[in-house]
Amino acid sequence: MSYNNSVYKRIYDEYSKKYLIARERADERAREVRAKIPELAKIDKELSLVGLEIFSASLSGGDYKSKLAEIKQKNIELQEKRAGLLVENGYSADYSDVKYECEKCNDTGFIENTMCSCMREALTLAGIENSGFASLIKEQSFDNFSLDYYDKNPKHKEIMKRNLDFLTHYANSFDAKASQSILLMGGTGLGKTHLSSALARRVIEKGNDVFYTGAIDLFSQFETQRFKSYSSEPNEFIERYFECDLLIIDDLGTEMINQFSVSTLYNLLNDRLSRRKPTIISTNLSTDDIQKKYTDRITSRMLGEYQVLFFVGTDVRAQKLMRK
Ligand SMILES: Nc1ncnc2c1ncn2[C@@H]1O[C@H](COP(=O)(O)OP(=O)(O)OP(=O)(O)O)[C@@H](O)[C@H]1O
Ligand SMILES: [Mg+2]
Ligand SMILES: [Zn+2]
Repeated sequence: MSYNNSVYKRIYDEYSKKYLIARERADERAREVRAKIPELAKIDKELSLVGLEIFSASLSGGDYKSKLAEIKQKNIELQEKRAGLLVENGYSADYSDVKYECEKCNDTGFIENTMCSCMREALTLAGIENSGFASLIKEQSFDNFSLDYYDKNPKHKEIMKRNLDFLTHYANSFDAKASQSILLMGGTGLGKTHLSSALARRVIEKGNDVFYTGAIDLFSQFETQRFKSYSSEPNEFIERYFECDLLIIDDLGTEMINQFSVSTLYNLLNDRLSRRKPTIISTNLSTDDIQKKYTDRITSRMLGEYQVLFFVGTDVRAQKLMRK
């Protein structure tokens, strides 16, 4: 697991305060009811002395066990009386108890040394927000990807079913150090971006840092960095293109292609391949287009070392519009 550092730090910091906040809130409520119900204030004072009573019982010698049982019994009675007073005054019996959002971990994020599911979920949500395409991830899933749109041609449907199966399996078994890179090729509206976001969610859920970028944005970030002075901070986007567990580059070929963009792309793809970091690229370009637009070095990597999936069928975007 390698959550994005800044995301992990933010959630971790939130959690280190969360259980304290829950306790502070309970204290506030206790102060409120003590101010309103003087008898309850007295009980709380007595309850606060229980610890001390136990301590002195342990020092005084004699029958410690029965003394302890006596103190415990008194404690239970006080608690009951207190709850009764709360109810009499129109509060719930547990009004001033500490209320944690998660009762499994009491809002600490951990159960012993294992991360609690609530913290994992918070990390997933933060990872989605930080992925660069949160809105798409929330809408496009494996569940709402339908093969019915490819019904016109059984061959197309068969190919798309294989793509769907491949990508589902890829997402479910994603391994940041072993999963391969993928090239999604095909015409507009066939589900390349949809399946990329479905896949991204699963991979984020498994605790990986996923970063999505359109090709135009990617190259414009590199351009910006190029013209910045050397003394300036490294661009956080650029660092993430190289370091994230899964990089998704959408719409390759829509960017302005020049010597700079081509060498940038080569460096990025080559660096990630050599460090075995997976990348998923989508494009409308055909194999021929790719060969014409990019250098042999890029082409041989993308077509040779990536798993290539062809998307086929009739534009689903248009089909959906027609059905409306
Ligand atoms: N099989 C499908 N089931 C349900 N919705 C789909 C399917 N395929 C695509 N869509 C929807 O159709 C629209 C277009 O799909 P998507 O953006 O994935 O296409 P694309 O292949 O990325 O196209 P482009 O090359 O233009 O970027 C999206 O709203 C997407 O959710
Ligand atoms: Mg797309
Ligand atoms: Zn929890």
